[in-house]
Amino acid sequence: MTRSLHVSRALYSDAQRYLAGGVSSDARRVAGVPLYVDRAEGARLWDVDGNSYLDYVLGQGPALLGHCPPAVVEAITAQAARGMVYSAQHAAEVRVAERICAMVPSAERVRFNTVGSEAVHAALRLARGYTGRSRILKFEGHYHGWLDPVLYSVHPAVDAAGPADSPIAVPGTAGQQPGHADDLIICPWNDLDALTRLMDRHAGQIAAVITEPVLCNTGAIRPDPGYLEAMRRLCDEHGILLIFDEIITGFRLAPGGAQEYLGVMPDLSVFGKAMAGGMQVSALAGRAAVMDHISTGKIAHAGTFNSQPVGIAAAEATLRVLDERREEVYGTLYARGSALMEGLRAAADKAGVPMLVDGPGPVFQTYFTGAPAVRDYRGFAATDRAMMAGLHAALLDRGVNIVPRGLWFLSTAHTEADIAATVDAFADALGAL
Ligand SMILES: Cc1ncc(COP(=O)(O)O)c(C=O)c1O
Repeated sequence: MTRSLHVSRALYSDAQRYLAGGVSSDARRVAGVPLYVDRAEGARLWDVDGNSYLDYVLGQGPALLGHCPPAVVEAITAQAARGMVYSAQHAAEVRVAERICAMVPSAERVRFNTVGSEAVHAALRLARGYTGRSRILKFEGHYHGWLDPVLYSVHPAVDAAGPADSPIAVPGTAGQQPGHADDLIICPWNDLDALTRLMDRHAGQIAAVITEPVLCNTGAIRPDPGYLEAMRRLCDEHGILLIFDEIITGFRLAPGGAQEYLGVMPDLSVFGKAMAGGMQVSALAGRAAVMDHISTGKIAHAGTFNSQPVGIAAAEATLRVLDERREEVYGTLYARGSALMEGLRAAADKAGVPMLVDGPGPVFQTYFTGAPAVRDYRGFAATDRAMMAGLHAALLDRGVNIVPRGLWFLSTAHTEADIAATVDAFADALGAL
């Protein structure tokens, strides 16, 4: 089964002449031809060749209500006619900040940015400024954006990453400013002994621990029972701020994000992706006692496009739906997620393929492995990622778009019929592999 990709191929060939590497983000570089999307609506994408896809990438997570939800389209269209950029304060940002404080358990104050990497940057600066310490503890396999200070040990080659219980900081790219590694402490995730040891060893030096509360950039891995609670306690004992990077989990796992889903409170959290239904808005939120240090003017936070009114209009419309129709929204996300996971498991069993399908539901991962669970980066790295790449390509050929590393995002626009069609395409793809 092969799609016709004539127009996409021609575009890609032109793109090589004008876009460096032919793409605008390295995440879109794939073997073969990248997806050239013509339009998107609900749970579907159409490419420039007229092929249609059930979409489980959803813009890498943002389209939680599906593509082009009417309430969001209406809100941004109305706002665009009233002004697209003010670089000044306006009423809607106050309403959205208030809504975030009501929805997110640990949020007492908010600052807006444009993308996730920027909000992470703001969180780390605030943590350093607040504590007067310079080091950040980060976990192997976790992604916090593409900026120099945190682009370490995301998916390092295991043979260059040091021992599993005390990994070294492996830079993510050439050209990264040297020196940031000295400020980072890399810890294996879901390993409480390692965390305790590293905090003791670097007592008095660590400003913040930053974690994805459910790891979604290396599989879709929940924390072991009690792990985040212990992390919270250790941070308190050492005077360290706990930062939850909720760029993926925020508003996806629950109206209050992973902190509500897991019942553990961070000091600071960062949000992006799902909060604005597809527009680019991110936010740093946290305890007033910490966040108010921004307003003293000692800790700088700025941005021309912060609280840009069209993005804020999208966030307001999105969060209103997530908050006021929470039962329906999260009921649908979890129901569709579990139905799809069940269907994929059954298809893999029937095909005799050792596969693990795991995750909370609104986001989950398929791994080629005979292991009963994947708990951290080293476990993820031991799965068959070449097979996963093959499955990704085979699914695309059958009209199903997933994140190439095997991650699936659900939206409220996915129907029961979409799930059934996806399971059929999956079974067929496995057969072809
Ligand atoms: C957990 C997490 N943090 C931060 C980021 C960076 O966000 P952005 O790509 O909007 O800069 C991402 C992006 O995928 C992410 O998944």
